[in-house]
Amino acid sequence: MSSNYSSPKVAIVMGSQSDYKTMKFCEKVLKLLKIKFETKIVSAHRTPKRMYEFARNAEKKNIGLIIAGAGGSAHLPGMIAALTRIPVIGVPIESKKLKGLDSLLSIAQMPKGIPVGTVAIGKDGAINAALFSASIFSIKDKNIRKNLISWRSKQTKSVKKKPK
Ligand code: RP5
Repeated sequence: MSSNYSSPKVAIVMGSQSDYKTMKFCEKVLKLLKIKFETKIVSAHRTPKRMYEFARNAEKKNIGLIIAGAGGSAHLPGMIAALTRIPVIGVPIESKKLKGLDSLLSIAQMPKGIPVGTVAIGKDGAINAALFSASIFSIKDKNIRKNLISWRSKQTKSVKKKPK
């Protein structure tokens, strides 16, 4: 591995503008860890052509990992995963009626053949999806590895020994 190795980009996609209040936490963590990313609204059912084109062109655009947030029947992560070999992490968005349980089950219960990594519902999931990308990229990218180690160390130090 050469010392100037630079990881590919992460693509953050979401089914609706309304998902951004959750998915912005992915952006926040990726920025902190200095991971390149792009963010788009891509809906499997409202903009299927946009979704197809995004997934088919992702590899050419140097995208190495896709984080897809979706709520309700939440087929976006699975549909994108079916169209590309780039790994996809699905973030279940908290839905109004079922509090995101629908999104979680839709994303997690992919039948064999096309995997989608699934994280927790909502903000925690969005943050973990970004941290998970950092872990994957840190295998090859020493700058991201350094940033992730330092992020974890700060997290450890922030946990007090005694409650107030
Ligand atoms: C899904 O439908 C989106 O991912 C979003 O979570 C949900 C609701 O969308 P809006 O009605 O808020 O646009 O496609």
